[in-house]
Amino acid sequence: MATSSALFSPYTLRGVTFRNRIWVSPMCQYSADPSTGQPSAWHHQHYGAMAAGGTGLIVLEATGVLPEGRITPGDLGLWEDAQIEPLAALVSFMHSQGAMAGIQLQHAGRKASTSEMWSGSTPLGLAEGGWTAEAPSAIAFEGYPEPRALETGDVWQLVKAFADAAVRAVAAGFDFIEIHGAHGYLVHQFLSPLTNQRSDAYGGSLENRCRFALEITNAIREAIPDDKVLAIRLSATDWVEGGWTPEETVQLVAWAKERGLDHADISTGGLTADAAVPVGPLYQVPFATQVKQGAGISTNAVGLINTAEDAENIVATGQADAVMVGRGFMRNPHFPSEWAATLGAPLDSLVPPQYSVARWEHYAPGRRRA
Ligand SMILES: Cc1cc2nc3c(=O)[nH]c(=O)nc-3n(C[C@H](O)[C@H](O)[C@H](O)COP(=O)(O)O)c2cc1C
Repeated sequence: MATSSALFSPYTLRGVTFRNRIWVSPMCQYSADPSTGQPSAWHHQHYGAMAAGGTGLIVLEATGVLPEGRITPGDLGLWEDAQIEPLAALVSFMHSQGAMAGIQLQHAGRKASTSEMWSGSTPLGLAEGGWTAEAPSAIAFEGYPEPRALETGDVWQLVKAFADAAVRAVAAGFDFIEIHGAHGYLVHQFLSPLTNQRSDAYGGSLENRCRFALEITNAIREAIPDDKVLAIRLSATDWVEGGWTPEETVQLVAWAKERGLDHADISTGGLTADAAVPVGPLYQVPFATQVKQGAGISTNAVGLINTAEDAENIVATGQADAVMVGRGFMRNPHFPSEWAATLGAPLDSLVPPQYSVARWEHYAPGRRRA
């Protein structure tokens, strides 16, 4: 059966073809080995189930490019070569199930060095991770300790750390490398005037605030093969007066595209605790559309995209090229096959043969193999 579903049509960026446009949004699991930054059995079941569940792309959770860049000691890491092999095992299983493999490269800046969100003394998990966080300026996130302001030379080292981690990600077999530039972490802290009050070449004008993100883009693009996809996740707005704006996001993405960026994953918020965010179904989709049109680049929308019909409409009407879903995959890692059934798209490539007996059209009381 040929599909007329836009959501379930394949999509190609550079040398990577995704079987559909429902992608797993990066979600920290805080379950890595704290002494090695390597994945645990939890990661194998978590990502394995999603890979077998029919998604086109899994973007692994925020993964530290340096130990001190982790949000918590339980974050994954890619700061040393020993971390390549364990991640390669995850990638290999994703590929065996027809899912492409992505990874989000992260430095948490002033939001580093906390504990898992379920073990802290507050809902934000503010128990300390045990090291001093670093940031563009010595301005604390509300309730967190004051970070150390980075020297200019430190910034150059950080650019190199992102590029080195990207090279390791390629060695592990990842198809899609995403820079974490959103949610108030280090790259976003450089972008927003609320957290960047530097007086060197990395602060002040829009060009200067974007310099760190663009140098990372450049360095990674030069370090990875041409057939790999380079993406960035950005918060299109801080939802705060005087903060980072959608227009600045479009300009940054346009500049990054000139340096080899292929795709923009558009979210919002996370920079400050006091932002008034109008959270609701599809509330971030217009920002993905604005970036897609304004910068002429491939985008995905994300955030409370919870129905097959909404996701189909986003892709079919060109509001974005794909959708990412986060918590929906936690509730049910196999939901893509249910959405395919809803939209009349073929199920064959989405349901693993081991599970095909459970497809409703094959399932009838009294009809079972001996
Ligand atoms: C437990 C959890 C961990 C998350 N970790 C990350 C992360 O590592 N990187 C990131 O960019 N976003 C992270 N997010 C945000 C999600 O990727 C996603 O943007 C958000 O949950 C909205 O999508 P949804 O409504 O489909 O869940 C996380 C969200 C959750 C619930």
